[in-house]
Amino acid sequence: MPSVLIAGCGYLGAATADLFCEKEWEVEGWTASADSSAALSMKPYLISAVDIGSREAVTAAAKDFDTVIHCASSRGGDEQVYRQIYLRGAQNLALAFPQARLVFTSSTSVYPQTDGAWVTELSPAEASLPTSKVLRETEEFILGHGGIVTRLAGIYGPGRSALLRKFLTGTATIDPGPERFLNQIHRDDVASALFFLAQRALAKAGRTFDPRAIYNVSDNHPRTQRACYEWLASISHRPVPPVGSMPAPRRRGNSNKQVSSEKLKSLGWKCRYPTFEEAMRESILPDFERPGT
Ligand SMILES: NC(=O)c1ccc[n+]([C@@H]2O[C@H](COP(=O)([O-])OP(=O)(O)OC[C@H]3O[C@@H](n4cnc5c(N)ncnc54)[C@H](OP(=O)(O)O)[C@@H]3O)[C@@H](O)[C@H]2O)c1
Repeated sequence: MPSVLIAGCGYLGAATADLFCEKEWEVEGWTASADSSAALSMKPYLISAVDIGSREAVTAAAKDFDTVIHCASSRGGDEQVYRQIYLRGAQNLALAFPQARLVFTSSTSVYPQTDGAWVTELSPAEASLPTSKVLRETEEFILGHGGIVTRLAGIYGPGRSALLRKFLTGTATIDPGPERFLNQIHRDDVASALFFLAQRALAKAGRTFDPRAIYNVSDNHPRTQRACYEWLASISHRPVPPVGSMPAPRRRGNSNKQVSSEKLKSLGWKCRYPTFEEAMRESILPDFERPGT
């Protein structure tokens, strides 16, 4: 039975752990806090509170795993916080699990392009924000250890959609100025991409440096913010939100690009929710109060 450690069992990590478990992998999940571990105690796999930023804690909890997925999130924070969770976390995991294949959940925010063009894994990723630079450093560290880097678009899914929440609470506004693309991905499609890549890597012996082991994970159908709100308005017979007076400050910078996941798709990964509209209809809206009611 292959084994996986999900280091960071949060919104994405718990769904990923569930999927690996369903596929009969031996699974262990880590959270930062004992409260989060306790909240997951009903899961059919072991959950522990282990701070990946602490070398001692990670070393003390280390066992043999085939795959270790770094899925912990800084939940914002500055460069120092990023360095602690992402880079130091990756270094500690690499040290404690020298035999395991490391997988890092990075972000499409490393692409700084502003012209709205399509970007692939070969496009420049010369991150401009200090936080994105730490992600790039972590990516290089992971690749240097024969690991796999996934660059995730904005994650949404059951119980988590900032667009829908703002739309339904009447707090949504459309950013003024030039339209930007939103690159999105349903949580369950990220989980399936991580499983797909882990299983594929298992078939390959050894951890050799592969600079091409970077995969964008997006639904491949970017939408503008306006298009998303117009669609939500049309299906709920509500007005389209007004244009705001100032663009909301963006934690991930002012990039504007369309992120391609053709590379992953060409290997055989299939998206269950290939568009915002399908994800909303089939997975997310049923969980929220129906618009218009
Ligand atoms: N959300 C997005 O749109 C998005 C986009 C691109 C990339 N990503 C990446 O995807 C990954 C997962 O994101 P998410 O949205 O699922 O995050 P999340 O819901 O905030 O969950 C984060 C998890 O990491 C755990 N964690 C935080 N610090 C830790 C530490 N020092 N040691 C061990 N565990 C720690 C948290 O535990 P506690 O609950 O105890 O704090 C929680 O279980 C992250 O790497 C994130 O950067 C996310």
